[in-house]
Amino acid sequence: KPDVGVSLCPLAMKSAPERELLCIFGTGDLGRSLGQCLLQTGYRVVYGSRRPHSCGPLPHGAQVMGHTEAAQLAAVVIVCVHREHYDFMEAAAPQLQGKVLVDVSNNRKKNLYPESNAEYLQSLVPEASVVKAFNTVSAWSLQNGPSDAYRQVYLCGDSAEAKQAVREMATRLGLSVLDKGCLSAAREVEDFPLLLFPEWRLPLRVATGLTAFFFFYLLTRDVIYAYVEQDKDISFRIMVSLANKVFPIVSLIMLSLCYLPGVLAAFLQLYRGTKYRRFPDWLDRWMLCRKQMGLLALGFAFLHVLYTLVIPIRYYVRYKVTANTVSMIRENRTTGFDTTSAWRTDSYYSIGILGFTLYLLLGITSLPSVSNALSWREFSFVQSKLGHLTLFLCTLHTYLYGWNKFLRLSSYKWWTPPGYMLCLVVPSVVLVLKLLIMLPCVDRSLGHLTRNHGLFSLA
Ligand code: HEM
Repeated sequence: KPDVGVSLCPLAMKSAPERELLCIFGTGDLGRSLGQCLLQTGYRVVYGSRRPHSCGPLPHGAQVMGHTEAAQLAAVVIVCVHREHYDFMEAAAPQLQGKVLVDVSNNRKKNLYPESNAEYLQSLVPEASVVKAFNTVSAWSLQNGPSDAYRQVYLCGDSAEAKQAVREMATRLGLSVLDKGCLSAAREVEDFPLLLFPEWRLPLRVATGLTAFFFFYLLTRDVIYAYVEQDKDISFRIMVSLANKVFPIVSLIMLSLCYLPGVLAAFLQLYRGTKYRRFPDWLDRWMLCRKQMGLLALGFAFLHVLYTLVIPIRYYVRYKVTANTVSMIRENRTTGFDTTSAWRTDSYYSIGILGFTLYLLLGITSLPSVSNALSWREFSFVQSKLGHLTLFLCTLHTYLYGWNKFLRLSSYKWWTPPGYMLCLVVPSVVLVLKLLIMLPCVDRSLGHLTRNHGLFSLA
């Protein structure tokens, strides 16, 4: 039975609100895709074109006319034209007075022009309010429905009302907006589409530098040393043994480099007595790439685990085990079971496995889809508390692996320490500093700064 309380008044009887009209200059790929999306979102669209009668197929429902006629009809004009063709804007300037001009253009290279495209447009039409926006979305992504990476729109402009109008439009298109400030930020915004993995650059450099250093260090210590001092060619070890030293060493150092800036920042705040002052630029940059550093470190740890798995099936290992067994049978000798060795190896395997499991958890929680589902408290618990625990377990794994070799002179070939001893320096320093921060008196001072200023502790 129908609900008699429901109003059955026909929709046509209410006067439909007038849909907002937007003007798009340019009938290229981006102009057409943007127009199509705007029409689907409920806007009316009019195109301004140099050749209104021969501009090819346009989205159904859109009108097309000359630039000046089209500009007169709308309060917001989206300029989907390359900067090289902006010269017609000067002629259209009288009709564009007081309008919002949205500059969506990009350049093929950085620093191609003395000023940003948006600032140039503003200089051509000083009476309009130029807003830079939509330059990170492509015609392709608009047609296929924007995915997460393409959903982000950066905007900047000098007029708050103009930016608000563009923000509303972008939100209705299902895009998320980040305000980058005044129009002078346009150069930075225009550079975004030209950047290639910018936040991975420093971590990749660190990883390459450490890998190269430890590869040559271990090559000298292990392979060249044996060749020079013992006249033995063990160069085959480069493929697995050396790789299985370089990768975990780099992984452990990079993991500790994720936590070093946090403790340095905490000590800096303690020294300054405030959390209000900005960190130095290098520390800021370092802290901003911790996630990428951690993910790369996890990749190296993963390689170490894979290389460790193949140890039992290596020809060299099988040969040595068989040769040892045969020689023991021939010489009729046995070796007693060494409980200490059993404890040592089992302990470092076990601690390594626990460390690696937590490492994976850290990697998974740093993925945006997972971290977005966590509260700040949950995220900081995993990344800070469990992160330091991971660092502790991996460091302990390496100490246990070294066991009593730290004190054995024969470990120091050509007076150089083994790679794993070198790689323990940074994690040990980080853990000691972290322990100092956790001391009640230091923790209280940091807490005092937090209460005073209401900011989260970074360490
Ligand atoms: C060494 C096992 C996880 C850091 C070793 C070795 C084994 C091993 C068998 C000795 C390799 C050799 O004799 O050449 C494991 C297992 C793990 C694990 C089973 C987890 C499933 C990790 C993790 C790290 C790590 C997460 C931290 C990044 C190291 C280091 C060495 C080492 C630095 C010394 C490398 C050298 O110079 O010889 N591990 N490990 N391991 N592991 Fe792990």
